[in-house]
Amino acid sequence: MYLALLGMLWFCPRLKGQENSFTINMIEMKAEPGWEVENGKNLTLKCIVDISSTSKLQSQHQVLFYKDDILLKNVTSQNKEEAIFIQAARIYDRGNYKCTVILNNKEKTTKDYSVSVKGVPNPRVTVDKVEVMEGGMVTVECAVPEEKPPIYFIVEKLEMDICKQRKEKTILHNNYVTLEFPIEEQDNVLIFQCQAKISFGNFLEASEFTKSDLVTVRETFSIPSFQITPEGEITEGDPLKLKCTIRVTHMFLEDREIIIQKDREIVAYAKHGTEVTYSPPIAKVEHIGNYTCKVESSKISKVNSIFINITELFSKPKLLISSNHLDEGGKLDLSCQIAGSPLANFTIKKENTTITNSQNFTKRVWIYDSGVYRCLAAVRNVIKESDPVRLYVFEIVSKPRIFHNSRSEVIKGQDLEVYCQSVNGTPPIIYYLCKMNTCKSQKEMFTHEPATFLEKPTATTEYTCIAKNYHSQGSVTSDILNVVVIVPVSRVNLSNLLHEEVESGQNVALLCSTDEGSWPIHYKFYKHNAVVPSYETTLNDTKAIWDNLEVSKKDEGQYYCTASNRANIHSRISKSNIITVKVTLAPWMKGLIAVVIIGAIIIALVVVARWYFFKKSKAKQMPVEMSRPGPPPNSNTEKMQSDPNVEANSHSGLGYNDDTGNHTMKPANEQKEPDHLNMDVEYTEVEVLTPDLHKAPERKGTETVYSEIRKAVRQLGLSDLPRVTQLGQGRTGILE
Ligand SMILES: *[C@@H]1O[C@H](CO)[C@@H](O)[C@H](O)[C@H]1NC(C)=O
Ligand SMILES: *[C@@H]1O[C@H](CO)[C@@H](O)[C@H](O)[C@H]1NC(C)=O
Ligand SMILES: *[C@@H]1O[C@H](CO)[C@@H](O)[C@H](O)[C@H]1NC(C)=O
Ligand SMILES: *[C@@H]1O[C@H](CO)[C@@H](O)[C@H](O)[C@H]1NC(C)=O
Ligand SMILES: *[C@@H]1O[C@H](CO)[C@@H](O)[C@H](O)[C@H]1NC(C)=O
Ligand SMILES: *[C@@H]1O[C@H](CO)[C@@H](O)[C@H](O)[C@H]1NC(C)=O
Ligand SMILES: *[C@@H]1O[C@H](CO)[C@@H](O)[C@H](O)[C@H]1NC(C)=O
Ligand SMILES: *[C@@H]1O[C@H](CO)[C@@H](O)[C@H](O)[C@H]1NC(C)=O
Repeated sequence: MYLALLGMLWFCPRLKGQENSFTINMIEMKAEPGWEVENGKNLTLKCIVDISSTSKLQSQHQVLFYKDDILLKNVTSQNKEEAIFIQAARIYDRGNYKCTVILNNKEKTTKDYSVSVKGVPNPRVTVDKVEVMEGGMVTVECAVPEEKPPIYFIVEKLEMDICKQRKEKTILHNNYVTLEFPIEEQDNVLIFQCQAKISFGNFLEASEFTKSDLVTVRETFSIPSFQITPEGEITEGDPLKLKCTIRVTHMFLEDREIIIQKDREIVAYAKHGTEVTYSPPIAKVEHIGNYTCKVESSKISKVNSIFINITELFSKPKLLISSNHLDEGGKLDLSCQIAGSPLANFTIKKENTTITNSQNFTKRVWIYDSGVYRCLAAVRNVIKESDPVRLYVFEIVSKPRIFHNSRSEVIKGQDLEVYCQSVNGTPPIIYYLCKMNTCKSQKEMFTHEPATFLEKPTATTEYTCIAKNYHSQGSVTSDILNVVVIVPVSRVNLSNLLHEEVESGQNVALLCSTDEGSWPIHYKFYKHNAVVPSYETTLNDTKAIWDNLEVSKKDEGQYYCTASNRANIHSRISKSNIITVKVTLAPWMKGLIAVVIIGAIIIALVVVARWYFFKKSKAKQMPVEMSRPGPPPNSNTEKMQSDPNVEANSHSGLGYNDDTGNHTMKPANEQKEPDHLNMDVEYTEVEVLTPDLHKAPERKGTETVYSEIRKAVRQLGLSDLPRVTQLGQGRTGILE
């Protein structure tokens, strides 16, 4: 019911309005006092509308205010202007504002109006106390209640307008900050100040600094102070006392420590109390320096420094020595001296032993006098010690012994250690190794152990060594050490001095030579694959000749030689190249063989013919019997080669023919017409191959061949031959 009534009431003018015409001419915004306003000032933003209407009545329209496109206010109005009021504008009020007017269906909106707020209200600063002890803490609170976070706070601790500490913090969720400031020993009367900064987009607005109440700092203990005795100038030997004191506030109950430090070294300290004393028995030059007194509690430390100067009573003594290096038996002079030569009591010491209580000391030295010397000078109660002085007494070196690690001979290129040793003489001993009077290597030895020199001799060398130390007598030379260096045989070469091809009976000379190698050299000549050398000799020469006077066919073959000496026992024995020696038959022997073969063929033919004739004549009485030849003659052929007697017999058998003078060789199958035999012979096929002249008689001496032939001739002349074996594929026929 009520709703309906209300709707009617609201609706009536509308219905009425519809009869009229409305138009929105203009809409704009205005700000009072302006679009830029100081922080905290009242600000009014107005929306002004100009509407034309046919009706006399004021139109009713809606006005909407927006800040950054968010609706702020929605009013229904009949007025020309509507406003929003911002009391005490703050930074967060800044932004873009606009207003919209809606009349019936018509709507118009202004442009964006930017509102800026200048400045940040001054923060409020409070401290939790106005009186504080050194080492204590002050809590400072700084707040900007008018503004909204995030706020950036800067809080400073000031003393006499000088900033001693500054803290900065951004607070995201509160508009205040609480910070603690420690109170230090130098703090006296403090004040804290705070500034707030608020950023807004690109803009940053800052407040002024607001100061807190004064905070007074109370001292816990005073700065330490020194009391030095004696007052004024301090001389060496005076009793010295450094006292450091502090005053402590009665309220201060914390533990503290007082320390006296000289440079970085703590020389005295006290806990709990209010003073500490450093008192060395007497003042010395070493006590000159900066002394610092420090008082420390857990958080507070106070320091004071003083420089203590001490006047020197007399300068440090100096021990004068006649010489630091003396030969055994030499004279040593020691003298203790003080600049200005004041009256003093002196002591001279060697190591810890007092030698004398006088200023000067003289003696003849021996090696055990080597050592460190110093002297003491005493004036009143002040004793001063000189710098140490070192004395070396040298015993002369004994004649050095030279020896080496190898037994007797050294193979060229092998390492050789040569030792040199002087058993007496004060080290360090310097050894020089000399080769053929040039001394190059040098070794310093700090004991009497032998000095070792590493050598690689390439030839027999004479070594000597020289030992030397700081004894003024100079150096001593050793005996001569002769090191025999043997050179191993390196390359061996074999050559034929005469011809590569020799006729049997002539001589062959083989030369075995070496590039280098110590004498004597042992040479061995081997026939290839033979275990036993054909010839061996030992010579004091780099070459050896094997003269084989009368070679025969069996000497033909390949040869090499070896050469070695004592050095090759340890290394491989060198073998030479291989050369070939060829042995040919002498020309007369070739001829002889040819003759013998031809003769044999002829004899064979004669024999065959005779046998054939005999058979034929026998066949006239009995039926003809044909017999086949015996075993193949191959075995006989082999036998012939190995057994010279057989061979000779065969020759001699053939040699029966007178025709020995005829040297022409006829192939056997050409002798189809043995007409010179003066016999009635039928054709018989006989195959005789040409004899191998090179092989058959090679192992025969000429002499033997002759005698065998003669023997054979005699036998043939006396007896008839029973039968003849077939002349086979062998070189010649054989008579049994
Ligand atoms: C700001 O507005 C408040 C409340 O309307 C008023 O009390 C105050 O006097 C105004 N301040 C100024 C400076 O006009
Ligand atoms: C403003 O208020 C009226 C009624 O009070 C309402 O009908 C209208 O929707 C509101 N406008 C906006 C933008 O909220
Ligand atoms: C002593 O200390 C002071 C202060 O630390 C320094 O200036 C001075 O050079 C020092 N003197 C010596 C001799 O160390
Ligand atoms: C210490 O005293 C000597 C004289 O006694 C003076 O020559 C020297 O300069 C002084 N040293 C310092 C650092 O004051
Ligand atoms: C010399 O004195 C030092 C200490 O003063 C001691 O260590 C050392 O053993 C002493 N040497 C001899 C040889 O008495
Ligand atoms: C020691 O020798 C120096 C010279 O080297 C000499 O001046 C001094 O008088 C001598 N002192 C004594 C006590 O003999
Ligand atoms: C040297 O020593 C003697 C005896 O100890 C002493 O009487 C004398 O005063 C000393 N001299 C000096 C210069 O210290
Ligand atoms: C080689 O020479 C040495 C020394 O000269 C001698 O003793 C040796 O008998 C000689 N050897 C031969 C094979 O000549």
